Amino acid sequence: MRLLVTGGAGFIGANFVHQTVAERSDVQVTVLDALTYAGNRQSLDPVADRIEFVHGDVADFALVDRLVAGSDAVVHFAAESHNDNSLADPTPFVQTNVMGTFSLLQAVRAHDVRYHHISTDEVYGDLELDDPERFTESTPYNPSSPYSATKASSDLLVRAWARSFGVRATLSNCSNNYGPYQHVEKFIPRQITNLIDGVRPRLYGSGKNVRDWIHVDDHNAAVWTILEKGSLGQTYLIGADGEVDNRTVVGTLLELFGRDADDFDFVTDRPGHDLRYAIDSTRLRTELGWTPQYKDFRSGLEATVRWYRDNESWWRAQKESAEKAYAASESVIG
Ligand code: NAD
Ligand code: TYD
Repeated sequence: MRLLVTGGAGFIGANFVHQTVAERSDVQVTVLDALTYAGNRQSLDPVADRIEFVHGDVADFALVDRLVAGSDAVVHFAAESHNDNSLADPTPFVQTNVMGTFSLLQAVRAHDVRYHHISTDEVYGDLELDDPERFTESTPYNPSSPYSATKASSDLLVRAWARSFGVRATLSNCSNNYGPYQHVEKFIPRQITNLIDGVRPRLYGSGKNVRDWIHVDDHNAAVWTILEKGSLGQTYLIGADGEVDNRTVVGTLLELFGRDADDFDFVTDRPGHDLRYAIDSTRLRTELGWTPQYKDFRSGLEATVRWYRDNESWWRAQKESAEKAYAASESVIG
């Protein structure tokens, strides 16, 4: 199989490429990535001689058409992915997330190529802390931020292209991922690298917001399950029953670093901050037989801390500019 992976130099895409190369010798991987601030060629160093890398934009229609024409399937990870950045400047989010997906859809339609669309549970908006219902495939879309609105828009394009043009597409909406190679602007790597640097972790607002954590390898295994066994036109929610509030995540990290439980700061909240995400992944588990392998969040977190300690050369160059961007909008409130 000739597989085109967009966004393969980013966090989830790079882990997907590693997993694919390690486990599937019959798959020939081509990565298309624009190497934005979030993309890192070094993330693909361990597999550099086993893949083809194309430096380019998913919204470049001519380039995408040529690459898709030479592929049997596409997995589309490339996106602007950080909520805080989308609040500062939504422009690249509309361009990459909407126009980039449009460009890929036109190409897979023209060449009748199998397409899998990577999306997020954030398209569903948020839940109350005590809401007994979790997100399912039939939850109405209700995005809160420019990031989630552009991801929702791209999902709707995919659904329409599948229905109206018969594009052979599947979609997945996954919860928050953690693991190696995640940019230090994101919550868990930001706090880990702060702690390595002796800086106090920073919690937005009350710290009560809940995210449904899943290890990136479990997400990627689910993507392969859907590619191979999913029904065309169908959406699958991916989640590992990993709900934890942000304060607890920081508490666990402080413990792993041998620091005091109150050794963190509360900072200005994110505008429009979603309170809680929670996924019901029954369809994926019962219809396709997927099950997560990382069942203990604490030990997954411990392994992730080890990875950031062992790979400072991978993240050090990003740290200063990420913190500078936060310093512009963030102040300590307690
Ligand atoms: P990331 O920001 O780490 O990586 C994005 C990658 O896309 C980078 O390599 C970047 O260079 C590339 N890219 C950006 N714009 C591009 C363009 N115009 N053309 C080509 N490449 C471009 O993101 P991530 O966390 O790995 O997320 C990957 C996908 O998974 C996204 O679609 C995101 O919405 C989705 N997702 C992420 C999470 C999460 O917790 N991180 C959860 C659910 C879904
Ligand atoms: P993030 O990693 O940005 O993912 P998302 O916004 O897609 O959920 O943030 C995860 C949670 O952590 C979210 O509730 C915001 C919060 N957060 C902090 O409390 N402090 C931080 O420094 C960051 C970056 C995020």
